[in-house]
Amino acid sequence: MNEQEIKNLIDSAFEAKKNAYAPYSGYYVGAALLTEDGTVFTGVNVENSSFPVGVCAERSAFAAAVSKGHRKFTAICITSTKTVNPLAGDKYCMPCGMCRQFMTEFCTGDFKIITAASPDDYQTYTLSTLMPGAFMLFGTTL
Ligand code: THU
Repeated sequence: MNEQEIKNLIDSAFEAKKNAYAPYSGYYVGAALLTEDGTVFTGVNVENSSFPVGVCAERSAFAAAVSKGHRKFTAICITSTKTVNPLAGDKYCMPCGMCRQFMTEFCTGDFKIITAASPDDYQTYTLSTLMPGAFMLFGTTL
């Protein structure tokens, strides 16, 4: 990925975060997922009054992409904030364990996870770094 592609993905994640539904935690998360063919799908956290029912931004982005037939992914950008200000960044939001497992289903170890505190302040990880020894039922992505 070049710098421009990374910037575009970060911008998409910040834009998506405006639609996060997080009235219970007040923690707004936006994610932008890049498919291998260059399409971007976004997701937000969608909370629920029955707390465990809520879904993370990363998984909602993956669900949107898979729903459109995509199975191969290059990178995801995650951004979060504790305020309703759509442009405000927060500390780097790391994907939760459940989301790391969810990504493992579709992504190889070199899948990039970009976590952005602001459009100019981000860190990049790979899935293999954040999810070593991941469980896979069939040992490979289907
Ligand atoms: N959350 C995400 O959307 N992604 C993460 O990687 C971490 C947590 C959401 C879930 C919940 O709506 C809120 O952040 C607080 O945990």
